[in-house]
Amino acid sequence: MRVLALASEIYPLVKTGGLADVAGALPLALAKEKVEMRTLIPGYPAVMAKIEAARAVHRYEEFYGGPARLLRAKAGALQLYVIDAAHLFNRPGAIYQGPDGADWPDNAVRYAALARAGADIVRGYDVNYRPDVVHAHDWQAGLVAAFIRFDGAPERPGVVATIHNLAFQGRYPRETLGALGLPPEAFAVDGVEYYGGVGFLKAALHFADRVTTVSPTYAQEIRTAEGGMGLDGLLRARGDAVSGVLNGVDVDVWDPATDPLLPAHFSADAMKGRAACRKALQEAMRLAPDPDALLVGVVSRLTWQKGLDLLPDAVGKLGRDNIQFAMLGAGDSDLEHRFRALASEYAGRIGLRVGYDEALARLIQAGSDALLVPSRFEPCGLTQLCALRYGSVPIVARVGGLADTIVDANEMALAAGVATGLQFAPGSSERLAEALSRAASLKRDAGLWRTMQANGMATDVSWTRPARRYLQIYRDAMRDARGGD
Ligand code: ADP
Ligand code: GLC
Repeated sequence: MRVLALASEIYPLVKTGGLADVAGALPLALAKEKVEMRTLIPGYPAVMAKIEAARAVHRYEEFYGGPARLLRAKAGALQLYVIDAAHLFNRPGAIYQGPDGADWPDNAVRYAALARAGADIVRGYDVNYRPDVVHAHDWQAGLVAAFIRFDGAPERPGVVATIHNLAFQGRYPRETLGALGLPPEAFAVDGVEYYGGVGFLKAALHFADRVTTVSPTYAQEIRTAEGGMGLDGLLRARGDAVSGVLNGVDVDVWDPATDPLLPAHFSADAMKGRAACRKALQEAMRLAPDPDALLVGVVSRLTWQKGLDLLPDAVGKLGRDNIQFAMLGAGDSDLEHRFRALASEYAGRIGLRVGYDEALARLIQAGSDALLVPSRFEPCGLTQLCALRYGSVPIVARVGGLADTIVDANEMALAAGVATGLQFAPGSSERLAEALSRAASLKRDAGLWRTMQANGMATDVSWTRPARRYLQIYRDAMRDARGGD
């Protein structure tokens, strides 16, 4: 089976969050299921610098305001198409935002171009290639579903759209429609129209044969008025076409026995190296070298979604619990300021690094006792999966994929010996403080804590099962596409 994926970021070339991890790992997992996946990505500077064996398969004289080339290329084991369009993608710094921190004003056009190029591959712009399925990730790829329909080829591939985060919808004013390259009739309720404007994600949810999101619980949450962010009606109307498939992590990249970014290695039955990682983490974060403290790690974007704004209040409520924090994050500048203040108030107990740092992220996973993910909503979440694999016990809010991937240490789970972490109700600093205290007291029972760690490290967080689910969904989408509509 040939699948063309479209993604606005892909690990290890360019990453702002979990979407890149998924876009980079899924093709490798699918290859084992005999699925040949190629991924179409924008030619940002980081991409153009890292791709190998690039050759042009199509030249556009004029593509959304300038000339462009569609390249076929590789990066390691990843098979790629790249849109080389300097006027759209050759910009320094962040990929979605300009130097002022605001979204690029032409993002609608930039990502319409991604979708248009995908639809052009479907209509044969690389003469040697026709995909059976097109897999669009998030709103940035969403319009491909609309382009394919309005191109109106007699035979079209199955189309699958995956929602990684419903909070980002790609919603633009009606006036942008002309610049996007869609026909006027596309502007309809049964089309790309969304609350009077153009909705990129809405278009994907409407036109895709199958819609997936990244956990079963999130698939339920987004069908409710509370979690649906304006799209719940449409998602309910799509019925069984919508499903939840948990993410995995690339267990070759995330392996504490071989991770080249760690100062020492370990595995479930040889845990000695873990103590060295813990010590190195305390040093790196200027924490007191206390072997008894519960060392809680955080690796996160700093946004409202992640619930970390509740942490300063929770810390104030912790009382006598011996808890340290090693925090790595970047995002909202007011949150960054609050955490800087907190870290200086609690020097030696709260270590903070503001920024994006892959090596420190790994060290936090390998050296912390527990990993905190207090999200208000979380479609899947990857850091808690990495934590399981690295022997850090996840403390998570009971939402979305966090609820689906962590077995809470309640009485029954402890009695059965199956707990892998702690869950708590989202959205309040009281519940968060309680969960942290509960973790601190569980850790005082060393045998019990070791069992939780071992359970986590034995959990299958690989892509093997999810890849098989995607294969089935691709088959369903192909069948739907052939069935006509
Ligand atoms: P989201 O995509 O919502 O940010 P995920 O948990 O799905 O959340 O994925 C986040 C990914 O980004 C993980 O691979 C995590 O390790 C990584 N990450 C997040 N923040 C940082 C950071 N400051 N430095 C390094 N890696 C980070
Ligand atoms: C989004 C979500 C996150 C998910 C990731 C990959 O960024 O916020 O929960 O893990 O996509 O699917």
